[in-house]
Amino acid sequence: MSTARGGFSSRMGFILAAAGSAVGLGNIWGFPTQTASNGGAAFVLVYLVLAFCLAYPAFMAELLIGRYGQANAVTSMEKISRSLWQKRFAFVVGFGGIVCVVLILSFYGILAGKMMSYAIEPVTSLLGLNDASSWLISQSVVRNLIFTALFMVLTIAIIRRGVEDGIEKWSKRLMPMLIGLLILLIIYVFTLEGAKEGFAAYLNPDISRVFEPDLLISALGQAFFSLSLGTSVMVIYGSYISKSENLVTLGAQVTLIDVSIAFLAGLLIIPSMYVAQAQGVAIFSDDGSLISGPNLVFDVLPTLFTGMGAIGLFVAFGFFVLMSIAALTSSISMLEGPVSFVVERHNVERKKATTFIGFGIFILSALIILNFDVLFGLVISLSTVYGQPLIAMLCCVFVGWIWQRSGVLEEIKQGNDSAEHSLFWKVWPWYTKFVCPSAIAIVFFHSL
Ligand code: PFF
Repeated sequence: MSTARGGFSSRMGFILAAAGSAVGLGNIWGFPTQTASNGGAAFVLVYLVLAFCLAYPAFMAELLIGRYGQANAVTSMEKISRSLWQKRFAFVVGFGGIVCVVLILSFYGILAGKMMSYAIEPVTSLLGLNDASSWLISQSVVRNLIFTALFMVLTIAIIRRGVEDGIEKWSKRLMPMLIGLLILLIIYVFTLEGAKEGFAAYLNPDISRVFEPDLLISALGQAFFSLSLGTSVMVIYGSYISKSENLVTLGAQVTLIDVSIAFLAGLLIIPSMYVAQAQGVAIFSDDGSLISGPNLVFDVLPTLFTGMGAIGLFVAFGFFVLMSIAALTSSISMLEGPVSFVVERHNVERKKATTFIGFGIFILSALIILNFDVLFGLVISLSTVYGQPLIAMLCCVFVGWIWQRSGVLEEIKQGNDSAEHSLFWKVWPWYTKFVCPSAIAIVFFHSL
């Protein structure tokens, strides 16, 4: 199945790589935190609906563009364009996605580095290296710089090896480990006092909250971040899939894995919070809001692990290794976006391009670390609150209004002989043309 520019060697390779991109800190950290801050099960319900009704169609638009173009995001979109203004539009959208993903990786690498330092801490603790332990889990510029650099080196090392030998091989190794670890941790937390209350809060929706605008906006943002939309990544992954594969089914399978893992992560984190509460840690304030939303993972859970005694060291190790793996399979997809662009458009050798771009992104991360208070939140908002929804919406506009309908249908039909009889065939082109861009635009402008 591989082409001269590389490609996934098997269907499973693509599913695990795309699911690896989708499943990341957004699922295991972002989703449960958002759920806990937004009324528990009501958020889960809205998230599920938006993931399948808006994110999945937009995800398909990006995969189809890439599979048609068999090239990086910019070139793929230019191939579809017919007139000069369309080509310019294609460049803006394709390149916009690449800029967006570079920004995402620059802050994601810092968080992922922190996960790695928290994963090593239980080991130093076990060895009695107390100074090292407290350094690893205390906030410091030096620690952040070192671990962000380490994480980028890992990401670069995988991407230098290319699609089949790097992305696919490592996704196949890491994803099963991630799922196994997640399930083991859930089973363990299940046995602890307080967990049952957490399950109830997670699984009983307060239907009255379902239509709250803030909840809708958070759920949509979360679904787009989780499926890596608006970043050029799914266009480039789409371009590595063979024409003989049924893209509609593959896309649905990846969405299902992504949503299921977010759901499973909720089963781990929300009950863990209640277990911590049963042990005396304050989780919610008097008005019922979550006390340490974003810091949940670094404050509340470590307190819980410490309260478990010796076994807590192993649980903490498992948990932060899980986080680091999830981050790595996502970060490799992020780096592939700009690398494929530079390799294909500027004829630079892959290894050189990867090292150079990876280093450039590390410099960006370093700038953020050194100006944390000003830049960290700003880069997150720019890339995930504004960039991703905007670019994802423009991709839908591109498919709905610029790509000729017959061309889109032809691409859907590749590898899918019975496509014409499916619901997807009848609904999706129309849906992507009108419903997706308007719905994304409404939620987007409302969030401003
Ligand atoms: N989907 C990843 C997560 O949920 O953590 C984050 C992500 C990966 C965002 C790749 C954007 C991207 F291009």
